[in-house]
Amino acid sequence: MASSILFFGFLALSFSYVIASDPSSLQDFCVADETSNGTYKLLKIYKNRPLAVQAFEGHGDHASGLLNSGSLILRFVFFMAVIVNGLACKDLKMVHAGNTSNAVGSRVTTVNVALISGLNTLGISLVRIDYAPWGINPPHTHPRGSEILTVIEGSLEVGFVASNPENRVITKLLQKGDVFVFPIGLIHFQRNVGNGDAVAIAALSSQNAGVITIANAVFGSTPVIPGDILVKAFQLDRNVINHLQSNFVLLLCLSIRSEPTSGFLCGSGLACKDLKSVQASDFSFSGLHMPGNTSNAVGSSVTAVNVVQIPGLNTLGISFARIDYAPSGINPPHTHPRASEILTVLEGSLEVGFVTSNPGNRLITKVLQKGDVFVFPINLVHFQRNVGTSNAVALAALSSQNPGVITIANAVFGSNPDIPSDILAKAFQLDKNAVDFLKSKF
Ligand SMILES: *[C@@H]1O[C@H](CO)[C@@H](O)[C@H](O)[C@H]1NC(C)=O
Ligand SMILES: *[C@@H]1O[C@H](CO)[C@@H](O)[C@H](O)[C@H]1NC(C)=O
Ligand SMILES: *[C@@H]1O[C@H](CO)[C@@H](O)[C@H](O)[C@H]1NC(C)=O
Repeated sequence: MASSILFFGFLALSFSYVIASDPSSLQDFCVADETSNGTYKLLKIYKNRPLAVQAFEGHGDHASGLLNSGSLILRFVFFMAVIVNGLACKDLKMVHAGNTSNAVGSRVTTVNVALISGLNTLGISLVRIDYAPWGINPPHTHPRGSEILTVIEGSLEVGFVASNPENRVITKLLQKGDVFVFPIGLIHFQRNVGNGDAVAIAALSSQNAGVITIANAVFGSTPVIPGDILVKAFQLDRNVINHLQSNFVLLLCLSIRSEPTSGFLCGSGLACKDLKSVQASDFSFSGLHMPGNTSNAVGSSVTAVNVVQIPGLNTLGISFARIDYAPSGINPPHTHPRASEILTVLEGSLEVGFVTSNPGNRLITKVLQKGDVFVFPINLVHFQRNVGTSNAVALAALSSQNPGVITIANAVFGSNPDIPSDILAKAFQLDKNAVDFLKSKF
């Protein structure tokens, strides 16, 4: 009896450590298979492995995992010190946003930890990409981030390439309001297929996702990769390689900061769909340009684009939300239990703020105009208010595929069943009638 309790205790422990050691899907992507419940497949993978081996895997002091049994909700927090040595970045504020007069016809304006130091350790950042007509964002990868992109203006052809041996290309034509996902590490690109300019906003699941532009890394490294290696790799003649090498000049931009990064991976408990049946539609969503209905008590509306809408976001740790605000509308005080948030104003002006934890409870607040960006650190109570006379629109990215929302008023005064009124009366220093009145509102 005692030994079987020990055995199962050990099994549960070792199982969670196994999961903790391998939070990634160990394949190019893990499109959520809504028809499966996940638990069974994971158990099937691990049930034949020796317990001792399982217990050893992931038994590191920098990895911690929590296995919520039953629904198999997994939460992992990893801390990893990344020391980056190198040259300081050119001040990104000096870069002309939107100037696409260059060889590829596109320009990326990055809003990462180098510009907003508050993003440090939060695992998320934002970029704006401008495209001239037929301009491209050339094939590149982000070594430290998955990407979720939405088209603000124009139409884009987008795609990514799955790894060897298939090297399958998954592409899609996106219109204004469409959303597409590029899984971490995979080579991807965008092309403006319209006759006008195009604009996209993308969020990356790292405060400093990094970029490897394939052509520049291969043909423009310093010092150069020996030509004979490239001749064999690309099956090209030496003169062609020399020509290619002369075309690329490395633009080295490394942060001088040494920064701890914290990745936050949240498995949804859904198993991966069979890779062969994965389609571009698994990575996309349409309609983010459509305003939400703000005719409600708070005067705002949130349109979420997470793993529920895009199964391809499974395991990638990022998602989007569009928020519409009527004049004077608010997004009431709330928290996201599993994500930090980076928000940019697309239209109008917003007053935004968050409150630090006890004992300070300091309110950090700012009025934002169109194009301004603000960060809400994970789990802190935050809100937004439209302080303009017309409608306002914001686009927010969250560092979880399924960030969750706790609206404070609803959780406290509208729970089911409700929290006893005498507890709330003491907590809020109100008389019981006032508490009951508040409860009747939610
Ligand atoms: C999960 O999947 C297993 C295997 O297919 C099945 O036996 C079990 O009933 C499923 N559980 C739920 C809650 O669907
Ligand atoms: C855009 O960039 C080009 C090439 O670098 C430069 O000549 C031009 O002046 C820039 N235009 C603006 C509006 O900054
Ligand atoms: C917006 O929501 C309100 C309240 O639910 C409803 O009466 C109204 O018809 C909705 N408007 C649109 C355009 O859907």
